[in-house]
Formats: sequence, C-alpha cells, structure tokens
Amino acid sequence: MRKLTDQYGREITYLRLSVTEKCNLSCFYCRSDPGKCGIEPVEGSLEVKDYLKIGRIAAGLGINRIRLTGGEPLVHPDILEIVSGLANLDGINDLSLTTNGILLEKMASQLAKAGLNRVNISLDSLDESNFRQITNGGKLASTLKGIDRSLDEGLKPVKINVVLLKGINEHEIENFVRLTLSRELDVRFIEYMPVGGQHGNWSRYFLPLDRVLEIAHTIAPLSIVEGNHGGGPARYCRLEGAIGKLGLISPLSRHFCDRCNRLRVTSDGKVKPCLFSDQELDLRPHLDHPEQLKNVLLEAIKRKPDPGKSASNSLARMKQFEGKRPMINIGG
Ligand code: 5AD
Repeated sequence: MRKLTDQYGREITYLRLSVTEKCNLSCFYCRSDPGKCGIEPVEGSLEVKDYLKIGRIAAGLGINRIRLTGGEPLVHPDILEIVSGLANLDGINDLSLTTNGILLEKMASQLAKAGLNRVNISLDSLDESNFRQITNGGKLASTLKGIDRSLDEGLKPVKINVVLLKGINEHEIENFVRLTLSRELDVRFIEYMPVGGQHGNWSRYFLPLDRVLEIAHTIAPLSIVEGNHGGGPARYCRLEGAIGKLGLISPLSRHFCDRCNRLRVTSDGKVKPCLFSDQELDLRPHLDHPEQLKNVLLEAIKRKPDPGKSASNSLARMKQFEGKRPMINIGG
C-alpha cells in the first residue's frame, strides 16, 4: 500500500467515523443543548452502507485504522453490522470505538466477535453520585461493568478517557491515577476544550494537566513511556510498579498538529480536515460515485492546515474553538 501523505509530509492513516449524534447520557459540559442528546439532527445520519462505502474508499487510499465515535456509537441500532463491515475491509488492521461504556456489559462480547479490536471508554468520575451529576442521571456501575467485560473480551488496550474539570472531578485525580496501579487500564486525562454545553464557562472548568502530574508524583516515582503510541495526541508515563499507563492529552497547553494523522467524518457525512477548523466537505452527493468519493477525501487531506501556522499558545488555540460544533457532533 502506498503512503497517504498530506502536503506537509504528515502520513494520514487514521479515520474517525461518527455514526450517530445521539447519546444515552447527557453530560453537562458536552453538548450545546443537553436536552437533545437522545435526538438525531433534522437532516439525519448516513445509512450503514454509506459508512461502509466511506470506510472502503478510505482503506483503499491508505487509511489503516478506523475509530467509531458518536454521540454514543453503541446506541446505533446497526452498530454490529457497521463493525463487522469495517473489520472485514482489506487494509484496516485496527478498528476501535469510543464509548461511554453504558452498553458494553451487554455488547462487549458481540462487538469482539464482530471484529472490534479495542475500546476507549469515557469516564469522568469514579464516584457514583458525582458520575450521576456529571452525566445527568447515568449509572456508574454500568460503565464499570462495561470496563470489566471489555477486559474479559480482550478489547485491549482498554483506555479510559477522563475530561479534567476544575471543581468537578479535580478531587478524583488521585483515584484515577491509582487505578493504573491495580488494573490493566490506560487512564488518559484530557484538557477541557471550550466547545459544547459550557463553552461560555470554559475558564470556570478548565484545569491544565500539570495538576495530574503533581499528584501522580506524590503517589510513586513516575517514568516517561517513550514511543509514538499510534501517532495519537497522548503523552504517556507510568507509575513505578503500575500495570496501566497514565496518559495526558493537552489540546490547549500543548499542540500536536505537526503529528496529526487523521481525518474526521461526521454522522451526517461531512469530512473535516481539522478539528480546529470549520472547514467541512460534504460526502453525501458523492456516495454513489466511488471515484468522486475518493477525490473528496483526497481534497480534505489536501486542505489539512499547515502545522507551522497552528496557534502557538493556548489562548490563541482557545480562540480557534469559538463557534465550533460541539464534540458530540464531531465525534470527539
Ligand atoms: N473538551 C474535552 N473533551 C470533551 N469531550 C466532550 N466534550 C469535550 C470538551 N469540551 C469528550 C467526551 C468523550 C470524548 C468523545 O470527547 O467526554 O470522552
């Protein structure tokens, strides 16, 4: 397979494909209108066959990893068909999914059988009542069981995504960090980005990830885990004696545009060259024309912004988020 590179020499190997905007939780910071987490957008999502077409063309171009996102991808009624369709594509050697884990207890085994390789599970609190508050009624026990089932089914490495929120889950940093000592989990802290439900209150909840390292240092000696970790944005370290790794994803206080390896496709068929940009190209008119579909994906890669021109400090980067679609619409 020839390499798929953009004009700045970045190799594009990774597609994030959102399959729904619906979610079965309603986290206060995520969606602009939390009342609408269970509702599809007016225009509606693509059909299963369309997601598979996009996956096939992307794989033909040189994409070798696909992540399914949402909304919550597991609420899609045909998610198993989507997973098995994509898992069977030539060239795709890593198929993963980002989920809140609520449905994993029930579905982990079927997902593994359908060909899913691994899961990332969003979990912002380890405390039952805090979890309920953040998610607007979610049950922590369901996500915890989902994590256990995923490990049992070998959907590894199981990565836990924690959006760090000042005054909300800051006091739980230590518990999350300690989880890596006893469990085979990579716990990744993500800086809160000023998009979605609370973007007007962004500075009220934003906490730089330095706080995580300060706390981790008090628990045990910490060492950096070298490697490019699939080209993703996380930096990893490990507490001495820990089974799992500790990951830090800092879209604001550090930027990683020079290593960007990805395209995003929304559930309504828009390809986004860059998370920080409003540019979108519509794939829908081209779904029945493979050659055109291919050309639009190539055009999106061509439009990936110059990493040398990405905002150089966190304030400027924050500005780039203004007016953007919330993460729930983009797929995280
Ligand atoms: N900043 C950072 N992460 C966010 N997510 C949703 N909104 C934000 C935000 N404003 C996370 C979810 C989930 C992933 C899909 O994106 O918590 O982990």
